[in-house]
Amino acid sequence: MDKKDFRNYKKNNLKLIYKNFTAGQGCAVAFPFKKKMVEFLNNFTPERLYYKVMKTRFLLTRKAIMPCLQYIVTTKCTMNCKQCNTFIPYFTEKTHLNYTTFEQFKSDLDKLLKSIDYVDYFGLVGGEVLLTKDLNKMLKYALSKRKLHHVFIATNGTILPSSELIKTMKNKKFCLQLSDYRKVTGLRENVTIKFDEFKKLLKDNNITFITTESDNPIFFEMPKLYKDTQDKETLRCQFDKCWGQYCNMICDGIITQCTLSVYISRNFDLSDGIKGEIVDIRKEKSPRKIADKIIQFYAKPYSEFCHYCHPTKEPVMIPRAEQL
Ligand SMILES: C[S@@+](CC[C@H](N)C(=O)[O-])C[C@H]1O[C@@H](n2cnc3c(N)ncnc32)[C@H](O)[C@@H]1O
Ligand code: SF4
Ligand code: SF4
Repeated sequence: MDKKDFRNYKKNNLKLIYKNFTAGQGCAVAFPFKKKMVEFLNNFTPERLYYKVMKTRFLLTRKAIMPCLQYIVTTKCTMNCKQCNTFIPYFTEKTHLNYTTFEQFKSDLDKLLKSIDYVDYFGLVGGEVLLTKDLNKMLKYALSKRKLHHVFIATNGTILPSSELIKTMKNKKFCLQLSDYRKVTGLRENVTIKFDEFKKLLKDNNITFITTESDNPIFFEMPKLYKDTQDKETLRCQFDKCWGQYCNMICDGIITQCTLSVYISRNFDLSDGIKGEIVDIRKEKSPRKIADKIIQFYAKPYSEFCHYCHPTKEPVMIPRAEQL
C-alpha cells in the first residue's frame, strides 16, 4: 500500500471505526496507576487515541477491521417502499436474491472471518429478514462468532418473530432495529404492520432494540441511478459526505460499498472500475488474497459505484415508506 492508499485507508476505515463506535470517554483512565502514562494519553483526544490503537492493530494483523457490514439474506420484501434505500421494489424476478440458506451463510461467514480482523457492527438485513426460513440458525451462528462484536437485524415489523428467534435475540451482543411504519397505507393484501405487538414482545423478553418511532417520520429521496462517468473531485466530495460510506454490504458473496451498490451490482452493466473494486469471497480461494482485496477495498478515494449515483442537490424529504 503506498502513501496515497494509506491516506484513503485511514479516512475510509481506521477513522470510521471510531465514528461508528459509540462507547463513551475514559480510555485514558484505564491506567490510573500510571500517572505519566495518563498525562501522556491526555494529550490525545479519545478519537486520536482510538485511531492510534486501530492503526497499530492493523499494522500487526494486516487484516481489516470492518466498521459495519450488512449481510443481505434476501432482497424479497413484504413491502414496496417507493424510495427504499435498497431499491427493493425495483429488483426483477431475475435479479432478486432469493432466501439464503444457513449452509450458504455459514460458508460465507467462515470464509470472511478468516480474512478480516473483526466486524464491529454486523447486520442481517433484507428486504425483509423475517421472510427467511433459516434466520434463527443464521443469527445464532453469527452471535457465536468472537470476531462479530455486535450483531443486529433490521425489520419492517410485518412478521412477528418465532419463539426460537426470541430466545436467540436475548443476547448481550444483539440489537434489533424495528421500523415504525404504523402510518403507512396501501400495503399489499394480507400484510399488516405489527409494530406494537412486536415492540411488546421485545420489551417482555428484555431484548435490546431501537425503533424509528421518535425519529423524523420521513424518508429521503434516493439518488437517481444510471451508468455514467463523473468528475473524480465531485465524487470524492459526494462520497465523503454520504451515509453510504458508513456501512458496507455483502450480497450473494459479493462485498460492495452501500445499499445502492447492491442494486447497481445486480441490475446494471458494470464498469471495469466497479468490477475491480468489488470483492467476491466465493470466487476467491485464498484467505490472504481476500484479506488483501478487502484492505484495497477501503484504500480508495471514493467508491466506483458513485459514478452511477446522482443524488438530489439538497436532501429531499418524503413521507416515510410511501408505497408504490
Ligand atoms: C433497507 S431497511 C431494511 C429493514 C426493513 N426492511 C425496514 O424497512 O425497516 C433499513 C433501514 O433503512 C431505512 N430506510 C429505507 N429507505 C429509506 C429512505 N429512503 N430514507 C431514510 N431511511 C430509509 C428503513 O426505515 C430502515 O430503518
Ligand atoms: S420495508 Fe424496508 S426493505 Fe422493504 S421496501 Fe421498505 S424500506 Fe425497502
Ligand atoms: S454510490 Fe456512493 S454516493 Fe451513492 S449512496 Fe453509495 S457511497 Fe453514497
